[in-house]
Amino acid sequence: MSALDISVPIIWVLGGPGSGKGTQCERIVTKYQFTHLSSGDLLREEVSSGSSRGQELSAIMERGELVPMDLVLELLRDAIQKALPDSKGFLIDGYPREKEQGILFEKKVAPVHLVLFYDASDKTLVERLLGRAKTSGRVDDNEETIKKRLHTFNTHNDQVVQQYTEKLKRIDAERNADEIFAETSLLIDDLLASLK
Ligand code: AP5
Repeated sequence: MSALDISVPIIWVLGGPGSGKGTQCERIVTKYQFTHLSSGDLLREEVSSGSSRGQELSAIMERGELVPMDLVLELLRDAIQKALPDSKGFLIDGYPREKEQGILFEKKVAPVHLVLFYDASDKTLVERLLGRAKTSGRVDDNEETIKKRLHTFNTHNDQVVQQYTEKLKRIDAERNADEIFAETSLLIDDLLASLK
């Protein structure tokens, strides 16, 4: 698997479960028309395909654990390759979740330009996910799995974040979505200006 020839910006969108990655990505797509690829959504699509691999994935996600690294990267790389001809930029949401995932992505896909990290306390994350649980229908939006997802996130996050000191921008995600998006937009505008 060799790296892809990508000339548009690549942005990773990181943060704990419920930090607002998906919410901010939706707004970024509206403003910048980037291609949004969420590792969680790609995995859930695989699960709903009903394949035996999908069943294994569903069990892992229900336990709040990380699925095998090669599989997530393969799903992402295929989706990037498919969207590449028309894409203005890629928002890679929920990846990397382990240090090694980031290293592999830059080797087998392309270098990242910007890492957005949405930072919120565990208390806020739990409250938001429990709120969303009322309507989401997600197998992992229940109190027990939310605790495990947080544990998984807190186990790996420091190592991921330490890896990207200069490219990583930490954004206070305790604020309302409009304020967070205003800061996010400034960071993306800076990136786009630097790439001109
Ligand atoms: P994934 O689907 O990525 O879930 P997650 O990281 O747990 O994040 P969420 O999608 O639940 O939350 P979010 O940050 O997008 O927040 P949202 O905007 O929805 O991953 C699921 C599972 O897949 C993982 O546990 C793992 O098993 C597997 N997986 C995924 N990627 C993997 C990888 N790379 N490697 C291995 N395994 C992987 O917001 C949440 C709620 O808060 C919403 O109700 C929203 O309306 C509300 N909200 C958002 N922003 C605000 C705000 N500013 N103020 C108040 N409320 C807000």
